[in-house]
Amino acid sequence: MRVGVLTGGGDCPGLNAVIRAIVRKGVQEYGYDFTGFRDGWRGPLENSTVRLDIPAVRGILPRGGTILGSSRTNPLKVADGIGRIKRTLGELEVEALITIGGEDTLGVASRLSDEHGVPCVGVPKTIDNDLSATDYTFGFDTAVGIATEAIDRLHTTAESHMRVLVVEVMGRHAGWIALHSGLAGGANVILIPEQRFDVEQVCTWVTSRFRASYAPIVVVAEGAMPKDGDMVLKDQSLDSFGHVRLSGVGEWLAKEVEKRTGNEARTTVLGHVQRGGTPSAFDRWLATRFGLHAIDCVRDRDFGRMVALRGTDIVRVPIADATSRLKTVDPALYEEVGVFFG
Ligand code: F6P
Repeated sequence: MRVGVLTGGGDCPGLNAVIRAIVRKGVQEYGYDFTGFRDGWRGPLENSTVRLDIPAVRGILPRGGTILGSSRTNPLKVADGIGRIKRTLGELEVEALITIGGEDTLGVASRLSDEHGVPCVGVPKTIDNDLSATDYTFGFDTAVGIATEAIDRLHTTAESHMRVLVVEVMGRHAGWIALHSGLAGGANVILIPEQRFDVEQVCTWVTSRFRASYAPIVVVAEGAMPKDGDMVLKDQSLDSFGHVRLSGVGEWLAKEVEKRTGNEARTTVLGHVQRGGTPSAFDRWLATRFGLHAIDCVRDRDFGRMVALRGTDIVRVPIADATSRLKTVDPALYEEVGVFFG
């Protein structure tokens, strides 16, 4: 059997570990051949492929990024996109397609599988950890580690100058990275997209921290928004690829805090550094197990399914379960962490 593999959406540490596990087990245990599709859904749309065999996956376990390339191309928004994908798979005699991606990539896989009979298996990935139906996605642990290390470092420079340091982390719709890295890094304020924040309250926490002779660290997810006024919302814009660009809430917040409290404030935007580089041991472990189970779904011809982590087990769920709604931070959990604010 010939199996296609693609990686779509934003890249994420651990993608190569999944690819390696799929190919190693697929070739060695089941005798399958593989076709790598280049740049997410663009690959099958344009019949653009990458050689994918044992030599191609040698040495890639610790490497960040994806050897297949990635894109946010959505075939459902392209003329005759589904027809073109089906034709490519037919021409190349690809009998199963493993799609490794987040909400958008898996959303397409779910529809192709359920509505158009394309045999897809899904593997969830995102540093944001906001996919439902799985306890964790790989990439998240690495991103949290990078953000935590940054917060640790920012504490010492904040203390030296007695400044407020605002750290903006990724997370457009969910505050998982902010919450986990903020808690692990001993931040004094954590702001997440799930709950609009009150700038005056942030200033109160900042001031009380200074009163205790410490410099405050404020961790803010890029999608967090203030209650009073919608200026951050208004600043959102689409880039030339049609992706939402957030306005820089961290920079905005630092200016507000400086103005309202009279304390000097600086912003650090961690950005794509959170997505780059080598995956943590946990992410390599999770990504590898996802890959091993994904190829078993192919063997069982169990299509329209996604591998997921439940506790310590890898299970299979309908792909649609992961994409129908986002997994956001529970207010009770946020409240629990809030005991450390101020
Ligand atoms: O993968 C999700 C994510 O990391 C978001 O947190 C972030 O807003 C987005 O990707 C940015 O991705 P890009 O710059 O590739 O569009």
